[in-house]
Amino acid sequence: MQIRILGSAAGGGFPQWNCRCAQCEGVRAGTTRAEPRTQSSIALSDDGERWVLCNASPDIRVQLEAHPVLRRASGARGTAIGAVMLMDSHIDHTTGLLMLREGCPHQIWCTDAVHQDLSHGFPLFPMLSHWGGLVRNPVPLAGEFAIACCPGLQFAAIPLRSAAPPYSPHRHDPHPGDNIGLLVQNAAGKRLFYAPGLGQLDDDLRRLMASADCVLVDGTFWQEDEMARAGVGTKKAAEMGHLPQSGPNGMLAELARMPDGQRQILIHINNTNPILDPDSPERAQVEQQGIEVAYDGMSIAL
Ligand code: MLT
Ligand code: MN
Ligand code: ZN
Repeated sequence: MQIRILGSAAGGGFPQWNCRCAQCEGVRAGTTRAEPRTQSSIALSDDGERWVLCNASPDIRVQLEAHPVLRRASGARGTAIGAVMLMDSHIDHTTGLLMLREGCPHQIWCTDAVHQDLSHGFPLFPMLSHWGGLVRNPVPLAGEFAIACCPGLQFAAIPLRSAAPPYSPHRHDPHPGDNIGLLVQNAAGKRLFYAPGLGQLDDDLRRLMASADCVLVDGTFWQEDEMARAGVGTKKAAEMGHLPQSGPNGMLAELARMPDGQRQILIHINNTNPILDPDSPERAQVEQQGIEVAYDGMSIAL
């Protein structure tokens, strides 16, 4: 299985256009070794020819230009992307569909909850019907399913505790399917667990994550009140559906309990998170634990 990290930042990207926090200013000024990052998206393939795009970020144009394998096609116009899988209905994961309008109809895989949000609160489905439309394929919340463009991969969606976006009727009333994680397995039995938005783990999820050869998980925040500390907002990590890395019950503690030899990578990193800076003590702590920090252009083979 081949995995390409198209965008490793959370919503807003890094630097964020209106952000003057120390990290965003540092990356603009070149006074930090931190690298700019585009918004959250990955691509998966079995054979490297046809790909499933997981999330369509507002930065999709730049991301596709940066990854020639995703543009391979026959004919004057075309794409190697055969399907788009949506993990939730957030802006940073779905807005790219507007930029892909010239290629409609696209095969879109999403849950009922996400389809509802994208039909009403953020009506991408009705809007794009004027360009040839989006073909909706329902993602089941239990059991495995296949996607035609990548027949060698087997997919399973895992309902996660995270948060629906502000325009969702589920924003303060979580439903299974608002946010999913993906378990993807190839013919050799290698397994990837992908969850860019993960607010809470339970024992079932821990068991499932432990079965993966590689976990690519929520790296949004280092601490619960990080936005307030950076002076850029008041929202807490929990409110936004993201489990912070630090603390006795944080993501690092969870990852430490996973089996030895598992590859562990943090993704969907907010511009306020100190792990973006390769010289920060927080990044050192992450690396000491053997955890990687995803970057744009990262390529993973399983
Ligand atoms: C999130 O994951 O919480 C979103 O990226 C927030 C946003 O896009 O505003
Ligand atoms: Mn996000
Ligand atoms: Zn910032």
